Amino acid sequence: MEEVETPIPGADETRVRVRAAAFNRRDVFITQGLYPGIDLPRTLGSDGAGETEDGRAVVIDPMLEWGDDPRVWSPQASILGMPRDGTFAQYVVVPRDNVYAKPAHLTLEEAAALPLAGLTAYRAVVTRGDLRAGETILIPGIGGGVQTFALLFAKALGARAIVTSGSDVKLERARALGADVTINYGANPDWHKALKRGEVDIVVDSSGGDTLGKVLGVLRPGGRVVIYGGTRLDSTFRIFPLFWNHLDIRGTSMGSPADFRGMLDLVNLHEIHPAVDRVYAMDAVNDAIAQMAQSEQFGKIVLTIP
Ligand SMILES: NC(=O)c1ccc[n+]([C@@H]2O[C@H](COP(=O)([O-])OP(=O)(O)OC[C@H]3O[C@@H](n4cnc5c(N)ncnc54)[C@H](OP(=O)(O)O)[C@@H]3O)[C@@H](O)[C@H]2O)c1
Repeated sequence: MEEVETPIPGADETRVRVRAAAFNRRDVFITQGLYPGIDLPRTLGSDGAGETEDGRAVVIDPMLEWGDDPRVWSPQASILGMPRDGTFAQYVVVPRDNVYAKPAHLTLEEAAALPLAGLTAYRAVVTRGDLRAGETILIPGIGGGVQTFALLFAKALGARAIVTSGSDVKLERARALGADVTINYGANPDWHKALKRGEVDIVVDSSGGDTLGKVLGVLRPGGRVVIYGGTRLDSTFRIFPLFWNHLDIRGTSMGSPADFRGMLDLVNLHEIHPAVDRVYAMDAVNDAIAQMAQSEQFGKIVLTIP
């Protein structure tokens, strides 16, 4: 930690006094040098909640310059916290349009857990996934920050949710959030065989590796897979179920301003509380990153800013 100049907002920008921030996998990847376009020195942090100069409690949308096309981001798009200074600081300057009223039912710490993961999950489940009430969604690796939101949103929308994890403790926590069926993939490499062929309407995944190959066989004809990450890198899969069952594989990343507003509306309407695993004080920031690197968390790790 070090002292830096308090940032000065430019035209169409505003300065937020950050009270709480939260971690995403990209913060870990950046500290390990494993992220495109690293430009140092830089204050990390994409997620934040706090107060504007005129005293409004706000959350920050970390998606910068999405552009005019709701289907895809613009070539200028970037994410708060790299290459632009982020929220692991007392003050952050962002475009005025990127601040939104904090949901009234959330504490500042809960609100800080919302932005990046909530936005990504909303676009994956709702905008790209088009999840309908009564459908069955499969959410592999439920411990991840985005996946916990995918579960919360799917249940709010009236879906049946099947989740997997390598940890029974995380599966227990997922049941408390409404998961209908839980499967431990660590104990059984053929975990997908516990599901009936055609039982699943939609899969939302970021685990990568062999997950895609396994889930294609359990999707109903006309089902879809939405992918926003590849924690265990690339996949190979059988082509046959893809074409024979008219399946869709859809990619997504972050979300548009309309997605962010839709996410906040859903959170407000259903008074959804993010799954916050643990709250660290700012001076323990390195302990927080170490915990995140081990993937021990269920949901989000939050940082309070003094
Ligand atoms: N494109 C975007 O806009 C975007 C946005 C956010 C994140 N991401 C990417 O999405 C990924 C997840 O990020 P995150 O921050 O939400 O979570 P994270 O903390 O990186 O979560 C990783 C999760 O992956 C799961 N996992 C590991 N091995 C698995 C396996 N064999 N099968 C199924 N799941 C497995 C684990 O779940 P269990 O512990 O439950 O087993 C773990 O909780 C990262 O790769 C990140 O870069 C992309």
